[in-house]
Amino acid sequence: MAGALLGVLLLLRLLGAGEAENEELRLYHHLFNNYDPKCRPVKEPEEMVTITLKVTLTNLISLNEKEETLTTSVWIGIDWQDYRLNYSKDDFGGVETLRVPSELVWLPEIVLENNIDGQFGVAYDANVLIYEGGYVSWLPPAIYRSTCAVEVTYFPFDWQNCSLVFRSQTYNAEEVDFVFAVDHEGETISNIDIDTEAYTENGEWAIDFCPGLIRRPNSASAGGPGVVDVIYTLIIRRKPLFYVINIIVPCVLISGLVLLAYFLPAQAGGQKCTVSINVLLAQTVFLFLIAQKIPETSLGVPMLGRYLIFVMVVATVIVMNCVIVLNVSLRTPTTHTMSPRLRHVLLELLPRLLGSGAPPEAPRATSPPRRASSVGLLLRAEELILKKPRSELVFEGQRHRHGVWTAALCQSLGAAAPEVRCCVDAVNFVAESTRDQEASGEEVSDWVRMGKALDNVCFWAALVLFGVGSSLIFLGGYLNRVPDLPYPPCM
Ligand SMILES: *[C@@H]1O[C@H](CO)[C@@H](O)[C@H](O)[C@H]1NC(C)=O
Ligand SMILES: *[C@@H]1O[C@H](CO)[C@@H](O)[C@H](O)[C@H]1NC(C)=O
Repeated sequence: MAGALLGVLLLLRLLGAGEAENEELRLYHHLFNNYDPKCRPVKEPEEMVTITLKVTLTNLISLNEKEETLTTSVWIGIDWQDYRLNYSKDDFGGVETLRVPSELVWLPEIVLENNIDGQFGVAYDANVLIYEGGYVSWLPPAIYRSTCAVEVTYFPFDWQNCSLVFRSQTYNAEEVDFVFAVDHEGETISNIDIDTEAYTENGEWAIDFCPGLIRRPNSASAGGPGVVDVIYTLIIRRKPLFYVINIIVPCVLISGLVLLAYFLPAQAGGQKCTVSINVLLAQTVFLFLIAQKIPETSLGVPMLGRYLIFVMVVATVIVMNCVIVLNVSLRTPTTHTMSPRLRHVLLELLPRLLGSGAPPEAPRATSPPRRASSVGLLLRAEELILKKPRSELVFEGQRHRHGVWTAALCQSLGAAAPEVRCCVDAVNFVAESTRDQEASGEEVSDWVRMGKALDNVCFWAALVLFGVGSSLIFLGGYLNRVPDLPYPPCM
């Protein structure tokens, strides 16, 4: 009795142990007891392994323009079939997937060919999933730093063409072949897959197109079978707001200030040059900022750089212009003579053309009323003097004005005639020299007016140059759109 009970217990225990045996472990032993990961999963050497590839972009981390490096975070989905891992789930207690470390199975050794930091492989060796029928699936994550030739011509209104080139490092085109994965609806996913929920939007770049292409070597080519490349192209467009706010607007504002130099009067002299040279210095700072951002390439000049060069040239021209205008404005009759033609063009024709109010009145005709009264008196006196002999003038005048009672005084003056004549001569001299001074002062102010007229012309010229140049350059940037490529949009 006791023996029978013991026997039953033993049997139960055996059964229990049998049930408890791990099906996965059994499957693992079944698959891997005779497995060598170094061998390609084909029965005949001429057979090909077909690899299904699907690249999922989770994050476009950055594009470093200076180092011409694109950093991306991707998941690389690779699927293939390994006949040696063929099993039926019915034989193994319904085990649907077996997860094993990736080094235990054969891998196609897919690498990113155009990486820049020697990081060819994946970032994390995820497990390999083995399904019923020998289907193997591997989805490792990777952070890739790949080369991307940055086209700087339209910076910061540019778009870039970067590519990720995958290939099997060890196996040639006769050993492995690549195909794109197929989604649930049976459509081939040839794009880089972007899961809008998992994807983190990049603040600087928008992805417009992301087509993929499998490039098989020409079968007729000499020198071995070659390799199959899977090339994903990323057409990314820069969002320029950052540069508009931080560089373009301040730069346009500061450069616009240079036009103010024209409104400074000639008397301010050096101030005119100071304003424009300060602007020139500020522009140099901006140029320096841009130079730090873009690659050190001589293949193209960035649009922003071209703009800065342009405004710097404008500022330099304005500095030269100011110096020339100062030279004209501060001339004096003792050092320069004014040609009548120049006077006509600059003082009469130009103001009329520019419509800047009434042309300055002909200076000589209108000058008497504008003279200071004492000088006017002197001049009138002088006119009298010109008409009559001096002594006569003196005595006659006196007689007329003061009547007879002064005649006696006049006669006594007549006695002292030589002294009085001397006095009159002195007065005459004063009148003459004042007149000379007046005339020269007038000519000085003519030069100043001429400088002003020049300033006026140059201001409009500079305004047109600045406005047209700026708008042309920025229009070029604005029109630089990503071309309509025959691919479906990426997102
Ligand atoms: C897997 O094994 C089943 C039978 O067990 C067979 O019918 C099938 O063809 C095999 N598949 C491969 C890829 O060898
Ligand atoms: C992007 O570059 C690849 C190769 O570098 C080229 O084949 C493709 O035509 C380029 N695409 C565009 C839109 O320029």
